[in-house]
Amino acid sequence: MPDRHLTSLTIRRPDDWHLHLRDGAMLKAVLPETARHFARAIVMPNLVPPVVTSAQALAYRERIMAALPPGAKFQPLMTLYLTETTDPEDVREAYAAGIATAVKLYPAGATTNSDSGVREIEKVRAVLDVMAEIGMPLCIHGEVTDHDVDIFDREAVFIDRVMKPLRKKVPDLRIVMEHVTTQDAVDYVRDSNKNLGATITTHHLIINRNHILAGGIKPHFYCLPVAKREAHRVALVQAAISGDKRFFLGTDSAPHTDPNKLQACGCAGIFSAPNTMSCLAEVFDAAGRIRKIEDFASLNGPLFYGLPPNEDTITLIKGDPVTYPAQIATGDGPVTVFDPGFDLHWRVVD
Ligand code: NCD
Ligand code: ZN
Repeated sequence: MPDRHLTSLTIRRPDDWHLHLRDGAMLKAVLPETARHFARAIVMPNLVPPVVTSAQALAYRERIMAALPPGAKFQPLMTLYLTETTDPEDVREAYAAGIATAVKLYPAGATTNSDSGVREIEKVRAVLDVMAEIGMPLCIHGEVTDHDVDIFDREAVFIDRVMKPLRKKVPDLRIVMEHVTTQDAVDYVRDSNKNLGATITTHHLIINRNHILAGGIKPHFYCLPVAKREAHRVALVQAAISGDKRFFLGTDSAPHTDPNKLQACGCAGIFSAPNTMSCLAEVFDAAGRIRKIEDFASLNGPLFYGLPPNEDTITLIKGDPVTYPAQIATGDGPVTVFDPGFDLHWRVVD
């Protein structure tokens, strides 16, 4: 049966390869939204203070496990926040002990809570060499932070200035370019023959920069990297639906309270955990490729990370429009849920 006429599809349970869970009351409120559909997630370490050491990652993992709803089966895969003083041996031990799955590189100042990030790559070279040796992936926020580089060009410039030299210097390092937003990044990843993958968010498959800026400013569509022009969105959709093993889902669901989003200098981040699978199904179905959602959300990520795909399944069903709450309440205040701007007909049943 051609994809177009499918109204039900069972796939391996998906994982989220880029997720912000936060801490405390926010963690408690947002975690069930991910644990409902996803088996595992790569958990970002940009807390205040950041999760830098294996001891901090272990403690954070315990707080996540304690915040899970009773009976929920969810495995957080922890990351270490790379700083210029990170101890390579601590990273080695965290990976060997199964405490950390990956290391996250934030260029200093690139995004939310990235001040302790990396200014000079040479200063973290010893850590990167150890990671290349042991096969531990490096997740990179791929944007330069130079004030003289236009914010819409920061990803493409990062590829030339940082990615290319880095991959020449440390060719055995396994790298995930996180939340790619440009045709440039899609082409760069496609042209590589090994050790490079990329996550794509749900929202970057749906919005372009007009959604943020045309007809009034829409803070709930503001995230980093910022959404680009339509041709880039189309390139991301093509990569996601292609089945190409180098591209996989990282929602970058990044909750901020409405008061923190809706102000003169609002926070970057889109909260999509509750409706991500419905949104994705709509995108894949509209492209006539609903079956490929399994490669993107459930198979390609584990393959890159060297983990088995999940054994259990979820079923996606197409029917009357499904609705999600516009906001969820958290102990820190309300958080608005991503609004794709179209009806969602696909829902998840376990
Ligand atoms: C993320 C956050 O809020 O932590 N924000 C975002 O816009 N994506 C940080 C990040 O992933 O860049
Ligand atoms: Zn993120």
